[in-house]
Amino acid sequence: MNLRLRYLSALFLSVPLGVAAYASSASATTTEAPHSMTSPQLAEAAEDFNIYCSVCHGRDAKGNGPVAKELKTPPADLTRISVRSGGEFPADDVFRTIEGLDMPLAHGTSEMPIWGALFVRQAVGEGVLIEDAKTAARVATDRIKRLVDYLETIQEK
Ligand code: HEC
Repeated sequence: MNLRLRYLSALFLSVPLGVAAYASSASATTTEAPHSMTSPQLAEAAEDFNIYCSVCHGRDAKGNGPVAKELKTPPADLTRISVRSGGEFPADDVFRTIEGLDMPLAHGTSEMPIWGALFVRQAVGEGVLIEDAKTAARVATDRIKRLVDYLETIQEK
């Protein structure tokens, strides 16, 4: 199994137990929170970022995480999303990329994992009812939105 697959399966298996030690060192970049995001939400998003994203994108989000050099495509510098798109933060595009809707299938498989499915899976838990699935989808969407908002706070001007 290649490194990325190993890493991902480790995530799927171990994440519900919480990577507490790793998460506790989460450093919320306390720049101004966009929209109506309160600081606990920002802290949660920063924690999600450290757990799920920093291995590739780096804790500073600049693309130098420990797994980065194993990838064929370098992880994007996530502090320069706005700069790359001409000064405006493309929140909807960023959401779709994280969720996994924007997979460039025609270009082969992306090395950027799909997070929507994982977050839904985590939120479903033991639930078996349609209501559980709906709630799970909402929880996962909110979690991705928070990540998007978090990324917006760390943009280089
Ligand atoms: C396994 C490594 C890996 C992990 C983990 C990872 N990414 Fe990525 N990410 C990439 C790579 C590689 C790219 C470059 C684009 C591609 O492969 O299509 C990327 C691109 C992106 C982009 C697009 C940036 C742009 O401007 O084009 C965003 C946004 C992003 N990642 C956010 C995240 C978030 C948020 C997480 C955590 C929930 C995360 N990534 C976790 C590897 C990763």
